[in-house]
Amino acid sequence: MIPHEYIEELTRRTDITELIGSYVQLKRKGRLYGGLCPFHSEKSPSFYVYPDTQSFYCFGCGAGGDAITFTKKINSIDYPEAVKLLAARAGMPEPEEDDKTGRMRSRILSMNKEAARFFHACLNSTVEEARQARAYWRRRGLDDKTIVRFGLGYAPNDGQALYQFLRDKGYNQQELDASGLFKRSQSGRIYCLFWKRVMTPIFDLRGNIIAFGGRVLDDSKPKYVNSPETLVYHKSDTVFALQIAKKSASRRFVLCEGYMDVISMQQAGIDTAVCACGTALTPDQVKLISQYAEEVILSYDSDEAGQKATLRSLELFRNSPVKVGVLQIPGAKDPDEYIKKYGAERFKALLDGVGNALDFRLKRLRDKYDLSQDGQRLEYIKEAVDMLAERSNPTEQEVYAGRLAEETNVSKTAILTQLETAVKRAGYKRRQERSRARLKEGEMNQINVPYSMGGAEALGVASAQQRLLAAILREPGYLDLVRNQLPAEKFLLPQQRELYQAMIQCREQGIELSLATLRAYVSEEALNELSALAAKYSDVNCTPDDIRLYLDRIARGTPVAKKAAEMSNDQLEQYLQSMREKKQGNLPPEE
Ligand code: GTP
Ligand code: MN
Repeated sequence: MIPHEYIEELTRRTDITELIGSYVQLKRKGRLYGGLCPFHSEKSPSFYVYPDTQSFYCFGCGAGGDAITFTKKINSIDYPEAVKLLAARAGMPEPEEDDKTGRMRSRILSMNKEAARFFHACLNSTVEEARQARAYWRRRGLDDKTIVRFGLGYAPNDGQALYQFLRDKGYNQQELDASGLFKRSQSGRIYCLFWKRVMTPIFDLRGNIIAFGGRVLDDSKPKYVNSPETLVYHKSDTVFALQIAKKSASRRFVLCEGYMDVISMQQAGIDTAVCACGTALTPDQVKLISQYAEEVILSYDSDEAGQKATLRSLELFRNSPVKVGVLQIPGAKDPDEYIKKYGAERFKALLDGVGNALDFRLKRLRDKYDLSQDGQRLEYIKEAVDMLAERSNPTEQEVYAGRLAEETNVSKTAILTQLETAVKRAGYKRRQERSRARLKEGEMNQINVPYSMGGAEALGVASAQQRLLAAILREPGYLDLVRNQLPAEKFLLPQQRELYQAMIQCREQGIELSLATLRAYVSEEALNELSALAAKYSDVNCTPDDIRLYLDRIARGTPVAKKAAEMSNDQLEQYLQSMREKKQGNLPPEE
């Protein structure tokens, strides 16, 4: 933990407007600043910076927080890294590394760097096995420049060599164990996880080496060995070569299956090629990629496994703002092989003619049926129509209905009629799923819903509570007015309850109330909520009379509350809808 005094000092020395202004072009609008949100793509500004509360909030995508949140998000780094970055900016010394994990983290990073140097030196040595390793990379078509650029190397047959090397550099046993580079045999001997393998280091977004992937030089198994999870390596949110892709001038990323595909594409000049690290794509990786890419082309292997993975990934990207295309690779098993066989230029041409996700899905569907048989043809139409209903807009529906008609020899009118019914059904299903998804089991039990009230009344209470929190944030003295009359349980939404409790805690410990100090006591979601309401009520000045009014409204509104989990779906949907409507709108006034 970094001491809260340090964070307070850091926030005092950081001006959020100036900080954000160096990334986003901000325009003054009265007491606020507005600009285009850097976290989602938009054409008209819905992103605002609030100097009063030193916070930001985007009314478009809901991103919000303080200077630290912003630094984390914009650089995709974690909390301690963001603090360090801001400290450097503010000319403060780094926070005391009394934090044991922090020290271990940096030891592992420096060990990884040493290990990468070691592997690279082994690749360039004069012994026979090194010559074979160099020949291997050569056979894979890589030139020296690429080898250096990716820091590629070779882990020698001697499994103890790296161990000895790092010991000599002064790393102790505990550190060596934490690095994930070694394992122990049953007899207790320690040896490197990687031996007789060509090595690919994996970098994080700042260029630290956080892990390795090692491949055999022949056909033996396992083909790849990858580093385990460590303090610095989390597979599920690492994207290989993203540190390169994020700097590209192009926002069109190419997502492939393996390291080798990425490295060949990069060598061919496609500097937005990335891949997941030895696992199937995860939601975290999708989120990360979506922060940098506007378009992603899935470029998986052409075998059945690759096509299945494509479908899975399409599903994961479905709710992201990124546009997705699917590349089909004719005559080769993967991009790497295609480039080797036909050259980089033809591969780039392939990329330019890429089909969209719908084309891919429909083609896969069509391949399942024999269209010369009536029964199968009808079945195909039905499935295709359902797919179009769920996944396309009206223009696309018009175009694809035409194609479908040609393919199956059924009239376009008939297909459009069928489509219309399917669209209605899909809409209903989607709305139901959405309201379910919004509330996972656990959350349902935390939300108190004043079900005896109509939607409007619940809204009144929730909004009074929101306004109270916003008022306290601006005028902490109000907390003393509120505390004795409003127990935390009365808050309808868990995040607001959390914020209220944290405010009381800070007040009791004599800590100044601000977004920056509260962050130490609340979850990231609650902090986001706080910046949201700081944004919404930024121009509302509260008097003690207003406070009493809010308290009164809450007191009249909440006597009968019911757990969300106990409500019927209709009741719940009605309530959520009212909350949602509350959340949207309320944009700051245009000047
Ligand atoms: P090459 O044969 O070197 O071209 O491999 P590739 O890049 O074509 O990889 P492949 O399509 O076989 O697998 C894709 C990715 O899955 C690789 O980059 C690895 O990250 C991972 N992978 C493949 N084989 C193994 C394995 O045996 N073990 C583990 N842990 N991961 C593997
Ligand atoms: Mn391959």
